[in-house]
Amino acid sequence: MKKILILTGPAGDAQGWGNLDVTRELCETLNTDNRSAEIVFLESKEDFTEAIETKSFDIVWSALYHISTKADIVGVNDDDGLWIADILDAKGIPYIGPNALTMKQLIQKNWTHEILQHNKVTVPDNFTVDIDEEIPDASFPAFVKPSCESRSVGISDDSVANTKEELEKAIHYIHAEFKQPALIEEYLPGEEYTVLMLSNGKRQEFLTGIVKVDESHFGKYPILRSDLRGVGLTKIQRPTARVEESIELARQAVAALNCLDHVRVDMRVSAEGQFKIIEVNGIPGLKPIKSWSPQMYSLYHASPQGVMQEYHQLIHLIVDSGLSRYGL
Ligand SMILES: Nc1ncnc2c1ncn2[C@@H]1O[C@H](COP(=O)(O)OP(=O)(O)OP(=O)(O)O)[C@@H](O)[C@H]1O
Ligand SMILES: [Mg+2]
Repeated sequence: MKKILILTGPAGDAQGWGNLDVTRELCETLNTDNRSAEIVFLESKEDFTEAIETKSFDIVWSALYHISTKADIVGVNDDDGLWIADILDAKGIPYIGPNALTMKQLIQKNWTHEILQHNKVTVPDNFTVDIDEEIPDASFPAFVKPSCESRSVGISDDSVANTKEELEKAIHYIHAEFKQPALIEEYLPGEEYTVLMLSNGKRQEFLTGIVKVDESHFGKYPILRSDLRGVGLTKIQRPTARVEESIELARQAVAALNCLDHVRVDMRVSAEGQFKIIEVNGIPGLKPIKSWSPQMYSLYHASPQGVMQEYHQLIHLIVDSGLSRYGL
C-alpha cells in the first residue's frame, strides 16, 4: 500500500491543478488500487512543517509551487523565497512532478524562455520589464502578459499592443495589478496547440491537442482571454495537421527543462507559420472532463467504462511515474 500526501492550500486553484473540489476528486480517485491518499490544506509554513513531520506517507504531490494566501493570482514568491520542492529536497522526501529548479523555471515564464532560447528551442521574440524599469523599443504587434501567472490571468484584448502608448499602458497594468515583471512577446496570431507530456524515459508519451473556442466568443483577437478560461469554453481536439511537429517541439522543450511525470507545453503559430512555445505548465489543471490534460488523455485513451475511468487512469499514471522514479 503506497501512501500519497496531497498538498494544497488557498492558492491551489491559482497555482495548481484546481480548487479544493478538484483536489478532493483527485484524492478520491487515488484512494483505490492499493493506494491511499490524504489531503493537507496548507495556510502557512508551520502547517507545511507539521504535515511533513507528523504524517505518514511515501510520496508528496503538491498543487502549490509555494505557500501563499493569495487565492486569485500566483504572484511572485514573497514567502522568504520558500519553495515547496526545495524543502522536500532538503528533507529527502520524494515528490511527484518536476524537480525544484525546474518548478521555479516553469512558473517564471521569462526564465523558461531564457533556457529554451539557450537550448535553441523556438520561443517568441521576448523581453521582460520589471517594475520601475525603462521600457525598451519593441516591434508591433506585441503581446504583454504577467511573467508568472496561470489560467490566462491578466490576459484580455488589451494584452495586444500595436503602438508604444498601448505597450506602456499594458505593461503598467501588469505592474500595478500583479506586482511582477511584465513579459512582452511577439504576438502569435495563429492556431494554439498544447502538448501533454506524461511519464519519463521509455514510458514517456506525448499527446497533442489543438485548442478550439467558438469564434463568436473572440473579441478583437483570437486569444484565450481570462474570461474564456475555466468556464468550459475551451475544447481540445485531435489536430489533423502538424502533429509530429508539435510533439517534436514539446519533446525538445521538456528535455531542455528536465521535466518529469506530467507537464503541458503550450505553443502558438507565428505570423510566418512557425510553432513557438509560449509556456510549459509545471502543475497542469486536473479537473475531470474540463481541464486540458484529462481532455487530451481521453481523446487518445478512450475507455469502454467512460470518461471517469479515463481520469482514474491518468491520475494513477502520473503517480506511478513519480513512484517509479524513486523505486517505490
Ligand atoms: N505571444 C502570444 N501571442 C498571442 N497569444 C498569446 C501569446 N502568449 C499568450 N497568448 C494567449 O494568452 C493565453 C494565456 O497565455 P499563457 O499560456 O502564456 O499563460 P497562462 O495563463 O499561464 O496559461 P495556462 O492557463 O495554460 O497556465 C494563451 O492561451 C494564448 O491564447
Ligand atoms: Mg497556457
